[in-house]
Amino acid sequence: MKEHSIVLPRDIPLWEDAKPYLDVRNNDEHTLVAYGLARALLEQTPGADESTVLPAILLHDVGWKRVDPNLLLDAIGTNPTRKDLVFDHERYGVEIASEILTRHRPDDVNIKSVLEIIDGHDTTKEARSINDAVVKDADKGWRTTPHGMKIICGWYDWSIAEYLDAMEKVAVPHMLTPAGKALASCLVAARRAEAALPDYLEERAHD
Ligand SMILES: [Fe+2]
Ligand SMILES: [Fe+2]
Repeated sequence: MKEHSIVLPRDIPLWEDAKPYLDVRNNDEHTLVAYGLARALLEQTPGADESTVLPAILLHDVGWKRVDPNLLLDAIGTNPTRKDLVFDHERYGVEIASEILTRHRPDDVNIKSVLEIIDGHDTTKEARSINDAVVKDADKGWRTTPHGMKIICGWYDWSIAEYLDAMEKVAVPHMLTPAGKALASCLVAARRAEAALPDYLEERAHD
């Protein structure tokens, strides 16, 4: 692997086995960016354990593969009509992740702790542990990253202004760790400033 690879050597076999389950709704890209985010959040979050957080973020969304792809966008977004599918993807995710983890039994990874985080990662909102908080912040914080914004605005055809309003209401206030809160509020603020550049630099349009 390259020196600056995102996924730790321990987690590469998990990633290889997870990949076939993540080829729906950009979940493969979401997973890798959220994994990178989780590594950064771990550095800023005392007490969180990477050997639980990183396998959990890598495997948290594998269950979407068993949900009808035509219904995926009805399960999420600002007005979800199929919240039952969110529970389903968690339940399926625990089954698939359990199979992958027991096949590899990665060193020093507590499989039960990882599965407990995957189960309920979307349908519980509070931090059930510091590890759960970091996984949730990496997962939800992804929506405020440049990558998450680009992907999600494409799914729903939202303008960036509508999207940033939604993020300020539903994402920023619900981040659970100090690092997660800083991440989300700073990224939304930076994107808002970027969107406002033409208001201050109108002469650039005539260059
Ligand atoms: Fe999920
Ligand atoms: Fe996710």
